[in-house]
Amino acid sequence: MELKKILITGSTDGIGLETTKKLKSLGHTVIVHGRNKKKLEDISEELNVETFKSDLSDFKETELFTNDVLSKHQSIDILINNAGVYKTSSPITETGLDVRFAVNTIAPYLITKKLLPILKNGRVINLSSAAQSSVNINALLGEIKLDDFEAYAQSKLAIAMWSRYLSYNLGDNRPIFISVNPGSLLGTKMVKEGFNTAGKDINIGVNILISLALDKEHDSHSGEYYDNDNQMYASLQADGLNYEKAKDVVQAIETALKSY
Ligand SMILES: NC(=O)c1ccc[n+]([C@@H]2O[C@H](COP(=O)([O-])OP(=O)(O)OC[C@H]3O[C@@H](n4cnc5c(N)ncnc54)[C@H](OP(=O)(O)O)[C@@H]3O)[C@@H](O)[C@H]2O)c1
Repeated sequence: MELKKILITGSTDGIGLETTKKLKSLGHTVIVHGRNKKKLEDISEELNVETFKSDLSDFKETELFTNDVLSKHQSIDILINNAGVYKTSSPITETGLDVRFAVNTIAPYLITKKLLPILKNGRVINLSSAAQSSVNINALLGEIKLDDFEAYAQSKLAIAMWSRYLSYNLGDNRPIFISVNPGSLLGTKMVKEGFNTAGKDINIGVNILISLALDKEHDSHSGEYYDNDNQMYASLQADGLNYEKAKDVVQAIETALKSY
């Protein structure tokens, strides 16, 4: 087995943390990212991994994080954009964006674009969801407010849309992009707190992330969306397959990233 270097955002809890542990036990190098200093210190001590701290709702911090990664690594094989938020007591960022769009859609785009030079022909795995709803560009830009579920569902379709768009537009010398619903209602903090249910076995999500990151069978699926509820590649919902709308989403993300 070829050993890989894998950066996982939001790997201080839930699916990201368990994926980190399993990949480490298989001998891979995992770079852990989170926003909580204490959690990062504990994980670094327990698993002997390199860690990076940044709050992805703050794009300045996010950029500093990517600069730090670039200064320490000449290559990364796989980026898993896993960090995500559903319900929170602070739904609006300091710059007026909905935190779901900031953390679930825009920050992973920024991280991916910044790390492209060291990802080369690697892989980018983007965490989407079965919850998908047509993206309202004004909501993405913070101009209108949405309820928690709608904001989450739009942010999760938006990440799959830019994933597809970059896959088609970056040319041959680009990583493989795959977006994924890791499985619905897996028993993590997000699900326990947000949906008031114990949830299903987290390993359902862990195993598919590891497969998408490492298995050769996914090489030919760049730009696609894997639905782990049905264990197959599937269509995006709403207007997720609409190229012009994906272009609008990417342009809005670029606009949101102009002023931070
Ligand atoms: N669980 C499911 O059934 C399910 C289904 C579909 C999709 N997903 C997606 O899977 C991914 C992992 O979710 P999970 O269920 O494992 O949830 P989780 O246990 O709540 O973990 C989320 C991770 O993201 C980090 N995070 C949240 N906000 C952040 C911010 N502003 N800056 C930096 N890091 C931040 C969290 O950090 P802290 O440790 O500091 O909180 C944590 O490490 C998410 O993208 C989620 O939307 C999950």
